[in-house]
Amino acid sequence: MSDSVKLPSPFKLITFDEIDSTNAEAKRMAADGAPDGTVVWARRQTAGKGRRGREWVSGEGNLFCSLLLRPEGHAARAMQLSFVSALGMADAVNAALPRHCQVHCKWPNDVLVEGRKISGLLLETETYPLGGMKWLVIGVGLNIASHPENIDFTATSLTAEGAPEVTVEMMLETFCLRFLAGLVTWKNLGFEPIRKAWLKRACGIGKEITVQLPRETITGEFKTMDEDGALILLHNGAERRITAGDVFFTSPR
Ligand code: BTN
Repeated sequence: MSDSVKLPSPFKLITFDEIDSTNAEAKRMAADGAPDGTVVWARRQTAGKGRRGREWVSGEGNLFCSLLLRPEGHAARAMQLSFVSALGMADAVNAALPRHCQVHCKWPNDVLVEGRKISGLLLETETYPLGGMKWLVIGVGLNIASHPENIDFTATSLTAEGAPEVTVEMMLETFCLRFLAGLVTWKNLGFEPIRKAWLKRACGIGKEITVQLPRETITGEFKTMDEDGALILLHNGAERRITAGDVFFTSPR
């Protein structure tokens, strides 16, 4: 346990100086029966993982944590919780930065500052045969002190964007508090208020975007996000419902 970080119930913080990946550790703990609300936080990651098998460059002084949840319901609801997390992180980033900075959510789970990626989420889940969730791990990476330079998207960090005096501990606490507020809303009122709040923070709505899917790449108008969290793309006059993919902006946001 770390004395320097105080998380409210139901969070239980497990701290490591160094680990391969907080997601990998949270999954090991899930398999060993760790409870809902376990938060795995590491000061260093030696094998940080990003979405679609990519590496997550894990610079010293950045935030790496994974929330282990055991939500009720079908695994399709996991997607809704990813938007609760992304919004929580966007709010935490917004609160840490000078007022003029524009903080946006990019579908599905990225947080951008002035169009540059500052945070990403990696969701992993194990389900029962009928689709219920045994566990859900939400891995969160936030660039605080540094960001990678030679990657295929533009990244940034809180320090690079002029955040005054933020620490990893502060950002972990703020993110967990904001996530918890969103989780309570989601449990009591459902996904709709989360969807509305996410759409307010989203970039690219109504604009032309390109979406890379496993077997094709399509361009169209980003119409909205639907009641399950899927991206609705207007492509050749028809609506396409997209549940997984990488989004690229082809026109100014
Ligand atoms: C992405 O945008 O590709 C998702 C990045 C997720 C990175 C975080 S860092 C903490 C947790 N542990 C990992 O190995 N990955 C996630």
